[in-house]
Amino acid sequence: MSSRPRILILGAAGQVGRELQRSFTDAAEIIARGRDTVDLATPDQVRALVRRTAPDVILNAAAYTAVDRAESDPELAMAVNAQAPGILAEEALHAGALLVHYSTDYVFDGSKAGPWIETDKANPLNVYGASKLAGEEAIQQVGGKYLIFRTSWVYGPHGKNFLLTMLRLGRERESLNIVDDQIGAPTSSIELADATLTIVNSVLAGRFGSTDNWAGLYHMTCGGSVSWYGFARAIFTRAQALLDGKIPAVNPIPASEYPTPAKRPCYSVLSNERLYTRFNVRLAPWESALDEVLRRLTIPQ
Ligand SMILES: NC(=O)c1ccc[n+]([C@@H]2O[C@H](COP(=O)([O-])OP(=O)(O)OC[C@H]3O[C@@H](n4cnc5c(N)ncnc54)[C@H](OP(=O)(O)O)[C@@H]3O)[C@@H](O)[C@H]2O)c1
Repeated sequence: MSSRPRILILGAAGQVGRELQRSFTDAAEIIARGRDTVDLATPDQVRALVRRTAPDVILNAAAYTAVDRAESDPELAMAVNAQAPGILAEEALHAGALLVHYSTDYVFDGSKAGPWIETDKANPLNVYGASKLAGEEAIQQVGGKYLIFRTSWVYGPHGKNFLLTMLRLGRERESLNIVDDQIGAPTSSIELADATLTIVNSVLAGRFGSTDNWAGLYHMTCGGSVSWYGFARAIFTRAQALLDGKIPAVNPIPASEYPTPAKRPCYSVLSNERLYTRFNVRLAPWESALDEVLRRLTIPQ
């Protein structure tokens, strides 16, 4: 592609959507849209937007991400997370555009002893996971030029996430009880967006050849794994400057002592080997990605 590609970013106000805008800003003509201008639960709006903007690439970072609320709001979760991705895939196929979509580690039930691979059987424990799995399947059924990146435990400098919640609670409380028997890979929105840029650029440049060579589902998380408790400890160890040295005591608790409407997998670490083998891309280990996010928070860009 000779001129700068037109990139439609959906979910522009979300954590990943915001970082995608930062990552792609020099490489593309960006059309960023949030819920205020397009409601993904309204198919006509989705179709009209794609037809009007005629993008080369659609980056879908919009999703119904309220995992607990989804339990009592399954219709909306399915409309946004399952039906809308299928419509986007149809529109992308029609326009010859590339669709990039994000999915979740919560498609798995947590029962495996080692990192999950793409071909492992999904068995979501909650409505959110089921809706995201249905979204993956809807895209795969349409086919065409698509990339689905399953990621996990997303946090970053903006939006609602575990890191920012810990920093807020750390200022407010003397001690915190944090779940220690759910293990995953915290993944920064910065790492996700930068890796997406690298892969999209390579695909658009034709580096991987025909669609059959690269289209598909890939796991994309930061390296390593940790429990929420371990992640919280790492945050507080590193964030002393942001908290003026006032660090709360952090106590490990089992998930059974922190009941939530949605069940969550106890082990949802994803293997990233397929991503590395296909695209030669590996995200940073979660610890150094955390350092980078905290650096951004300390020195706002
Ligand atoms: N967050 C995680 O831990 C996590 C883990 C694994 C995978 N993922 C996946 O990663 C992707 C990005 O997630 P994120 O963390 O950036 O989520 P996020 O910060 O919650 O952003 C999602 C965005 O989607 C928007 N949205 C929700 N419903 C919409 C609708 N009906 N129409 C249009 N926009 C709508 C939200 O708008 P409002 O702000 O107005 O609601 C929000 O701006 C999603 O596909 C998510 O499933 C996230």
